[in-house]
Amino acid sequence: TRVAVLFGGRSAEHGVSCASAASIVRHLSRERYEVTPVRIGTDGVWTIGRDHPAPADVDAVKLLDMTRDPAGPRPTALESMWSALSRLRDEVDIAFPALHGGHGEDGTIQSTLELFGIPYVGSGVLACGIGMDKELTKKLLADAGLLVADSVVLHGTDYDDVSAQDRDRLGLPVFVKPAREGSSVGVSRVDDWASLDEAITTARSTGMSKVLVEAAVRGREVDVGVLEYPDGQVVAGPPLEIRVPDRHSFFDFDAKYQGETVFDIPADLPAAVTAALQAQAVEAFRILGCSGLLRVDFFLPTVEGTEDPVPVVNEVNTMPGFTAMSQYPRMWSAAGLEYPALLDVLIDTALA
Ligand code: DAL
Ligand code: MG
Repeated sequence: TRVAVLFGGRSAEHGVSCASAASIVRHLSRERYEVTPVRIGTDGVWTIGRDHPAPADVDAVKLLDMTRDPAGPRPTALESMWSALSRLRDEVDIAFPALHGGHGEDGTIQSTLELFGIPYVGSGVLACGIGMDKELTKKLLADAGLLVADSVVLHGTDYDDVSAQDRDRLGLPVFVKPAREGSSVGVSRVDDWASLDEAITTARSTGMSKVLVEAAVRGREVDVGVLEYPDGQVVAGPPLEIRVPDRHSFFDFDAKYQGETVFDIPADLPAAVTAALQAQAVEAFRILGCSGLLRVDFFLPTVEGTEDPVPVVNEVNTMPGFTAMSQYPRMWSAAGLEYPALLDVLIDTALA
């Protein structure tokens, strides 16, 4: 099977995507696949990797080198995209969009693949678009009865403050987040209302005007991976608890990628809580209309006098991180599905 791994992209998570892709390219079985790396630059220019097929011993540096821009005048993003997709349509069987964040995980790339008739791993246009947007995700999940953290949405258009009444209801701290970003880019924790404006400015520096001001959920942080098999069965993996070192005030960008955060897989939880988390993760996958995979990130609120907290959904990721440190491949590996076999399932499901 000929697989194009798309990575990079016009997003704040460009670097994370490069690391995810290097890991994916390394773990795709060379007995089953011919791998073509395709880099999308931060300026949107697409470059198809020269070495074709790509060798198995790829790291992020080699991957970037392999997809270095050719000498000569740089094409426009649109020209390069058109010519890359035209070639990929003939030269590959499937695309693996290893892209995170805007212009990648939000349905835009998925729509170009649809238009060119190239099958791809993971969710389609609509589910990606909704999954990328924290406001819409929460609305749909809450509508179906799942718990989500209370928040106020600032659209950057009308009256753009959090009223005294809302402040009282949300309490402190709050988390201020751009509505459509990943890896905690642009996210700050606000412990004092006096620093709210600065946090909103930070969130908006990502280029996104819509911002969520969200009540903090005091408790544990647990992620659950969902995987769809080629026969249509949708399965949740073992919950993974995130234990962030104390010097980070939350699971921020550095805590995510500096490798000091500890993951407990499976999380040490009562069986009923594990079952609830898994059922809700699969439900979220269904509600959002996902395909292939999803990682659902939950909080387990600390409630005095109960051992069985009710999960609160934090957010979802239609293309969760695939770096060597990332939660999603590690959860499945702990469940006995090693990285190469996980990739086989994702590709077989997309082609089924
Ligand atoms: N957005 C990053 C890649 C994650 O959720 O893992
Ligand atoms: Mg995310």
